[in-house]
Amino acid sequence: DGNRFLEGKTVLVTAGPTRERIDPVRYLSNDSSGKMGYALAEAAERLGARVILVSGPVRLQKPFGVEVEEVESAEEMYRAVLRHFPRADIVIKAAAVADYRPKRAEPEKIKKNGGGMTIELEPTVDILKELGKRKEGQFLVGFAAETENIEEYALKKLKEKNADMIIANNVKEEGAGFGTDTNIVTVFTSAGEKKAYPIMAKQRLAYEIFKEIDRNMRASRK
Ligand code: PMT
Repeated sequence: DGNRFLEGKTVLVTAGPTRERIDPVRYLSNDSSGKMGYALAEAAERLGARVILVSGPVRLQKPFGVEVEEVESAEEMYRAVLRHFPRADIVIKAAAVADYRPKRAEPEKIKKNGGGMTIELEPTVDILKELGKRKEGQFLVGFAAETENIEEYALKKLKEKNADMIIANNVKEEGAGFGTDTNIVTVFTSAGEKKAYPIMAKQRLAYEIFKEIDRNMRASRK
């Protein structure tokens, strides 16, 4: 069946935000709803793939037929992704991973002290970049959430993270990015291609993305 062109492939998708603990009741996070990543996982399943979804905390139904692994922090996401990476053929990092985390997660709830307070942050591991270093034939896809200089930053991520494809969304645009049911993206590939898509539902976009991935994988294995 030509509509199940991912048959026999294992697709690893990450979705949602991460939470970086400050104390037992507080954390740093972002506005990712998980909709983009869940749409990708659902589409891959329908296209015949075995799908593993590593998900940060979201309020979405688990997609049918998909193996879901729930994680909280960037560090947990990293460990889960590394575990599944060797068996994956396609990896898509739609998650909005925190770039920084508190240097120390306080074991008890922080008390008010009347004055101000400073939380010291340290960088988290760049999961996509680590995968780029470990890549052995996997088709590696990252997103780029930008608010300016979209093309420049997307191309920089493509190169620095050794990705095969970067999907750039201008998250300041109406109908694109965090929380919305639709997205507006431009896809850049390591083969030097650039393709801009009109606004569309994240479900439809997910299908278009897999068509593009499939085309690129076939072209590079000739
Ligand atoms: O979840 P939704 O509400 O549907 O919103 C979708 C989305 C806007 C979150 C999604 O389309 C998107 O753009 N996801 C990536 C968000 C992001 O973190 O972009 P970035 O430009 O900061 O990171 C670039 C890439 O590196 C991403 O693939 C990201 O997953 C990855 N990354 C980033 C930091 C880090 N420490 N590790 C990573 O792997």
